[in-house]
Amino acid sequence: MPDAVEIFEMGPRDGLQNERRLIPAADKIALVDLLSRAGFRRIEVTSFVSPKWVPQMADAAEVMAGIRRAPGIRYAVLTPNMKGYEAARAARAGEVAIFASASEGFSKANLNATIAESLERLAPVAQTAARDGVPLRGYVSVVTDCPFDGPTPPAAVARVVASLRDMGCHEVSLGDTIGQGRPETIDAMLAAVLDEMPAARLAGHYHDTAGRALDNIDASLARGLRVFDAAVGGLGGCPYAPGAAGNVATERVATHLARAGHATGLDMAVIAEAAAMARAMRGTEHV
Ligand code: HMG
Ligand code: MG
Repeated sequence: MPDAVEIFEMGPRDGLQNERRLIPAADKIALVDLLSRAGFRRIEVTSFVSPKWVPQMADAAEVMAGIRRAPGIRYAVLTPNMKGYEAARAARAGEVAIFASASEGFSKANLNATIAESLERLAPVAQTAARDGVPLRGYVSVVTDCPFDGPTPPAAVARVVASLRDMGCHEVSLGDTIGQGRPETIDAMLAAVLDEMPAARLAGHYHDTAGRALDNIDASLARGLRVFDAAVGGLGGCPYAPGAAGNVATERVATHLARAGHATGLDMAVIAEAAAMARAMRGTEHV
């Protein structure tokens, strides 16, 4: 029996949020509809964040309303606060993700709040999602390196993971936001995080800035992780993380996993088509 690994597709959200050129909602919808044929169980479609902060995601409701939902796929969205959660709920999001930072510098840049303030703001989102029966995912950013504060202590990541777990996140995704993690630093971070949450409830979310994302996935597989976030065409980056390149490309992760004997259940022909579509959406100028 091949050892199954889930790739959680991030392209429409993490992939496109960093594009300066405003991409028409119809193009985003076409990408999601194509991705719906690729065999993913979850696709992160968009984010309900402040349009002043991330103008590219201002069409979140329109995109969610326009996609054709395939049975068995969860269409997920990102929300930073109750305003975002309410909009996500109105848009019938199948899963909601809340996000926090392991460093104060990135928390301020990305959320305009300290880590403690951001977690306080997320608590009512978590409570309401539990009441509504909406699956809640958590992200921790800058799990090994922060563009403002330098190396992130593993214990700081473990603390935020524990807070997200206590709030009710069924899964926490560990973000190497600026792609500077190395297998050694990822492994040390995981050693601390695994004291708080089992590998079965963790995901790796690795940007590929320094070209080490696949090595970091291998280090995470060795620690028992079986969910990895990726974006078709390797698009993306975080607008509030200087130098952040794209998520590791879905097609590269799927090929790498297949070679190592892990089944992802993805249709590689559809993935290739989606990667080409995603790349074509990309402007020439990047944040
Ligand atoms: P703020 O300016 O401190 O908040 O931003 P505010 O409450 O004062 O709101 C400012 C304005 O935004 C107000 O409008 C609000 O109504 C509006 P005004 O009254 O001035 O007209 N607003 C909203 N509008 C729509 N939806 C909302 C919303 N919230 C407020 N949800 C805030 C604080 C958290 C809102 C802001 O910092 C924000 O939106 N940050 C999100 C930044 C972001 O999306 N970053 C990228 C995603 S995270 C990421 O990429 C990392 C990840 O991939 C993992 C990894 O790689 O590490 C997940
Ligand atoms: Mg990211």
